[in-house]
Amino acid sequence: MQTKNLIGGEWLEAGNGDRLEVRNPASDAVIASVPSVGAAETRKAIDAAWNARTAWAARTAADRGALIASLGRLMRRDSERLAKLMTLEQGKPLAEARGEVGYAASFLEWAAEEGKRLYGDIVPASAPDKRILVLRQPVGVTAIITPWNFPAAMITRKLGPALAAGCPVVIKPAEDTPLSAIAIGELACEAGIPAGVINILTGDAATISEVIFDDARVRKLSFTGSTGVGRLLMGKASKNLLRLSLELGGHAPFIVFDDADLDKAVPAAVACKFRNAGQTCICANRFYAQAGVHDEFVARFSKAIAELRVGDGSTEGVTVGPLINDEAVAKVEEHVENARSLGGRVPVGGRRARIDGLADRFYEPTLIEGMTPEMMICREETFGPVAPVAKFTDEAEAIEQANASEYGLAAYFFTRDASRLMRVSEALEYGIVGANDGGPSTAQAPFGGVKHSGFGREGGRYAMDEYTEVKYVSWQL
Ligand code: SIN
Repeated sequence: MQTKNLIGGEWLEAGNGDRLEVRNPASDAVIASVPSVGAAETRKAIDAAWNARTAWAARTAADRGALIASLGRLMRRDSERLAKLMTLEQGKPLAEARGEVGYAASFLEWAAEEGKRLYGDIVPASAPDKRILVLRQPVGVTAIITPWNFPAAMITRKLGPALAAGCPVVIKPAEDTPLSAIAIGELACEAGIPAGVINILTGDAATISEVIFDDARVRKLSFTGSTGVGRLLMGKASKNLLRLSLELGGHAPFIVFDDADLDKAVPAAVACKFRNAGQTCICANRFYAQAGVHDEFVARFSKAIAELRVGDGSTEGVTVGPLINDEAVAKVEEHVENARSLGGRVPVGGRRARIDGLADRFYEPTLIEGMTPEMMICREETFGPVAPVAKFTDEAEAIEQANASEYGLAAYFFTRDASRLMRVSEALEYGIVGANDGGPSTAQAPFGGVKHSGFGREGGRYAMDEYTEVKYVSWQL
């Protein structure tokens, strides 16, 4: 297994030999180490991307697409190996890791085709001897900074369209999960993606990003992570007016109306809330159930939550793995205790799950009844397996509560009323709405938020806009 950094087609250590330990969050055991690179290696990676950019952009879209598709194929070929590696470094259940590898490959497959449809325009001019041409050209060297919660898919969701548009990239994966990124880099080499087009750096985020912000040759940064860090990056990006795509935090409402089909709403609520142990930007954070269905929804949701199985993600049958680190568990605990102290009732879960032989990183899947706006859990991202529920009376109240958040990434609602389906979809101030759907993520749809959840869209044809510049050519005949 490769553990070095990919820079200009070579596998390199940090110049000073520094390495970072990678731990399995379930056991806290050290599973590998990777280079902890600094400014010199980051500059070298930017040099490599810069030197590769003209030749990469000059290839035909079909040619680039074939290489990108080949990387996707290799990921599917090695799905089991990649999934096991992901579970080892991130903790998610193996079945979810397998799903993520396929999901990650699908972004490459989509982008490989979409690059062929990067059309420009010819616009009617206002003089008979003039023509107006609109070209779409690659934005240039692109930095990609990704989080630990989806170690493969958050890379390929950016990598696919960036490469398809003709941009070389410098990828900085999360310190907690560098192994999946390096494995993707190895497969990119096997796929024949030319040296310098994909560079991968592991190490301290602040050191690496400082160089990225300082180097005017980098023209684009695509970041997925917290709103706090996004805000910081946006400030630093002003130096070179770096183009940004920011996919930041979320605080998704999940509304269950009286006329909802609970056979669909309950499993959707479980999947939406508890996949990846609740460590998903678009996972449901707040549940609102209408008075007529509230008690039945809570009873059925509680029963389903109690059936989830907590444990090491590599154990067959486990559905909820560990949280990523000790701070994550402490935060979940704080949110639950705060809700309790403000009157919340906890019929299921509500404490750490201690498992023999494993680290103290597990939290019982939890339901809190009687959520109120004062509770921390109703405002802040929990990033853990806790589902707080509030009762509401009418549609206007539900929408008001749902929109009462600084975030605007994803929202969900369940109803059988066709008019309400449209009305509520339009009224929710979110970038993604799951209407009778708890799992909207897919390669061909635009993924991204509004308000403090960031800006820019990933996925589908919309992603191509993030990596292209529009050039206007005024042509006098
Ligand atoms: C995220 O929001 O954390 C990514 C999840 C997804 O793509 O479904």
